[in-house]
Amino acid sequence: MAEQRTWGGRFEGEMDLLTQLYTAGADHDLWEHDIAGSVAHARMLGQQSIIPQADAAAIIAGLALVLDDFRAGRVIWKPELEDIHTHVEALLREKIGAPAGRLHTARSRNDQVALLNRMLVRELCDRVNDAAGAFISVLCDLGERHAADPMPGYTHVQRAQPVTLGHHLLAYGEMLLRDRERFQDCRRRTNVLPLGSGALAGSPYPLDREMVAAELGFDSVSRNSMDATADRDFVAEFCAAAAITQAHLSRLSEEIVLWSTAEFGFVRLPDAFATGSSIMPQKKNADVAELARGRAGRVFGELMGILTTMKGLPMAYNRDLQEDKTYVIAVANVVLPTLRIFAAMVPALEFDLARMRETAGLGYSLATDIADYLVKRGLPFREAHGIVGGLVREAEQRHCELNELPFAVYASASPLFSRDVAEITVDSALAARDIPGGTAPRQVRLAAAALRGALG
Ligand code: ARG
Repeated sequence: MAEQRTWGGRFEGEMDLLTQLYTAGADHDLWEHDIAGSVAHARMLGQQSIIPQADAAAIIAGLALVLDDFRAGRVIWKPELEDIHTHVEALLREKIGAPAGRLHTARSRNDQVALLNRMLVRELCDRVNDAAGAFISVLCDLGERHAADPMPGYTHVQRAQPVTLGHHLLAYGEMLLRDRERFQDCRRRTNVLPLGSGALAGSPYPLDREMVAAELGFDSVSRNSMDATADRDFVAEFCAAAAITQAHLSRLSEEIVLWSTAEFGFVRLPDAFATGSSIMPQKKNADVAELARGRAGRVFGELMGILTTMKGLPMAYNRDLQEDKTYVIAVANVVLPTLRIFAAMVPALEFDLARMRETAGLGYSLATDIADYLVKRGLPFREAHGIVGGLVREAEQRHCELNELPFAVYASASPLFSRDVAEITVDSALAARDIPGGTAPRQVRLAAAALRGALG
């Protein structure tokens, strides 16, 4: 069996079964990319007369048959064949015989696997890009729909100032737009062809690397064969972008959990996205949000994993790097489904707009606006702050809201107050914040349109 392995020549003994299993790559599913890379490599080898044209043609035709076998689920994984590269080569040999032996000319599994990983990360960046884009677009719709619907805005989870629900949701839209850009950036740096780097030192054959790059959709070719085979910063970047994205989704999850409590009562979960309790019949739980929040821990862990795997490795390739794919796949398996389910769930949330409006004005949330009223009448803000602070104290003692205080209390706090102070309402507070970035309904609509525009 030693000779069945691509590197069997210098080995006499069989590999221990546990060793086979322990060293096997987690790359079973990456046949499509591996075969595409091999087809491009073979075509280039033929064109450059590094291998006979006829063999290149046989290899390309054979790889098409291997691809069919994978697509049809006809391939049986053999642990002794180690990884996807060796499987594809062994299957090719079954199809076309001896010419298969020329495919690995001017190539090492080290540059081959770097290629595979870059193709994988590139593809996943595109998928996250699409999924994030779809969710952002949903948030734009909701931002527009709720541009004028008030809710309490919080800092420190204390009622602070009224905002609109549209403004609140669009905050996540902005976060996710930056997340999406991080994946686009990651894709740009990932999209550099490593093939042609050989094991670590480059290749003695007259390879046309540009030709391979063009066929496989890479923007450029790597400048340093050691960097290209040894570094996985693009994996760390992918995981980091995913970690930040999942952190944002986790914050939104936390809000959905809070908002759906009886205490907040802002949102009713649609049945399609809620679960019940096996013991408490009344329960309706926001498990989707809780799992999205919980799985942020998994994604952060994967980021720590790849960084730790890389940190002590001397140049160039070390087998530790085989772990890289597992991080990428694990992270994508959280972020992609989370983005997709959120794009479906968030527009289905049933907001209690009446309750949100009602609570928006409670808890002295208009105090800043009353201070601003005095500022407009010439008082320095710090003094105005002090005066309104006194009014809040008075209202607290009387167990009432600021607008329930008799006008006489205002008048004795400052001669600048006149009866039109009663015109300060949630809606006036919202409308007043009519500068770019503010929560005035007009601005929220503009921001939603601008965000949609930035989606491209
Ligand atoms: N399965 C390996 C990986 O994913 C391929 C490269 C193996 N190279 C080596 N010299 N053992 O990294």
